[in-house]
Amino acid sequence: MDRTAELVLRPARRPIAYDPAVEADSLHSGAARVLESNWTGRSTVPSRGLYPHQWSWDSAFIAIGLRHLSPLRAQTELETLLSAQWGDGRIPHIVFNPSVPLDAYFPSPDFWRSSTAGRAAGAPRTVQTSGIVQPPVHALAAWLVHCADPGLSHGRGFLARVYPRLAAWHRYLLHRRDLGGGGLASVVHPWEQGMDNSPCWDAPLARVLPAPARSFRRADLDHGAPEDRPTDLDYGRYVRLATDYRDAGYADDRDRAGRGGPGRGAGSFAVEDPAFNAMLIASEHALARIARELGATGTARHARAERLTTALLERLWDPERGMFLCRDVRGGALVPERSVSGLIPLLLPTLPREITRALVRTVRGPHFSLGTTTRLVPSYDLLGEAFDPHRYWRGPAWFNTAWLLERGLRTHGERATADQLRQSALESAHSSGFAEYVDPYTGEACGTADFSWTAALALDLLHDEPARDSHGVNDFKGGDRG
Ligand code: SER
Repeated sequence: MDRTAELVLRPARRPIAYDPAVEADSLHSGAARVLESNWTGRSTVPSRGLYPHQWSWDSAFIAIGLRHLSPLRAQTELETLLSAQWGDGRIPHIVFNPSVPLDAYFPSPDFWRSSTAGRAAGAPRTVQTSGIVQPPVHALAAWLVHCADPGLSHGRGFLARVYPRLAAWHRYLLHRRDLGGGGLASVVHPWEQGMDNSPCWDAPLARVLPAPARSFRRADLDHGAPEDRPTDLDYGRYVRLATDYRDAGYADDRDRAGRGGPGRGAGSFAVEDPAFNAMLIASEHALARIARELGATGTARHARAERLTTALLERLWDPERGMFLCRDVRGGALVPERSVSGLIPLLLPTLPREITRALVRTVRGPHFSLGTTTRLVPSYDLLGEAFDPHRYWRGPAWFNTAWLLERGLRTHGERATADQLRQSALESAHSSGFAEYVDPYTGEACGTADFSWTAALALDLLHDEPARDSHGVNDFKGGDRG
């Protein structure tokens, strides 16, 4: 059987009945078609035009959906990414495909110069990558991929091979990236957190001197409407931060932070983000499950996840707003902006009950309005001054955040809201042509179409799997499940 047939015909496991307005079969085959056409042989591009290489957190979310079509390919997706890991443990945010022309994406490999500028940090010699990272959702993905076909996983030694790499990745984040000194990981570039132009970055980024517009050429505008994408001014700042980090050899030495004067120098941007750290904690719990599967106890990892959860509460919880905020490590204060990032810790099962209650109230309240005026959770505060329903991470709804929140709501027993969000995500994914993101009110498609994680996570939501509640990472001992 050829690969296309294998993907499309492999029967859906436990398809579930839901609103007949969305046909599960058609959604399944549409999503499978997207993942098939974006597969390059060893990994999946997020989108053929806009993002023609392998992206780190995209691949993790893609693997979570791909496991329902081909557990082998889901394992391969993660292994390909991990094979580009740096010696210091970082997993780069992009692994470049050498057969794609340099001008197809900016910043290209000749900008990052990983194998030379990243040599001291242990960048691989044979593959070109970026030098920054993305949210650590990989161990969670690896565990879920394993659970899709434990026999295949054991047979291939999948967990035994990925475990040391995932452990090194977490070590890097916990030791080299604790720039605030309070136990949480910091991001040093908005692209690392993944929500590139979130209004949460506006104040910390204002300190960064933009690179001149004529010094680089954006490739994203060849594929996306300018009003859906970050502005040129934002891009100038992204380029400056990346250039400075590269020129400092991608070093994460806490003491040299900000050296070079205001707005210049590696380290002028450092933020502790709730979603990034929540994914790290969920992944620590997943690593504990993996360790147990491999014969260790996993206890130390659960304990570390608990310490991180405590740090998250101490450093980022805002009782007044009823959600988590970002901390500007260089400015020293919390950033008073409400973004979907501050709701994602709902994913964590051991949060105190009063915190989860407040988070659920906030998701349903006027700033996010889930279930009243919005179909999916907007990426940013509906009432915020910077809200824009179409511009990238300044308002539109994304499917990875919907997936994380759906999981969080279910974990804390909010079944009706979780069901509603799940159904909206399935309908919007289908009706938008698997759009990159959508208008949170109308579901209108924004960004690029046939976006891989939209297809993958729709597949995951479509296929009811016992792992979600019984042996997923959301179920572990010692947790206050409320
Ligand atoms: N998300 C960024 C981009 O738009 C970088 O990964 O290119």
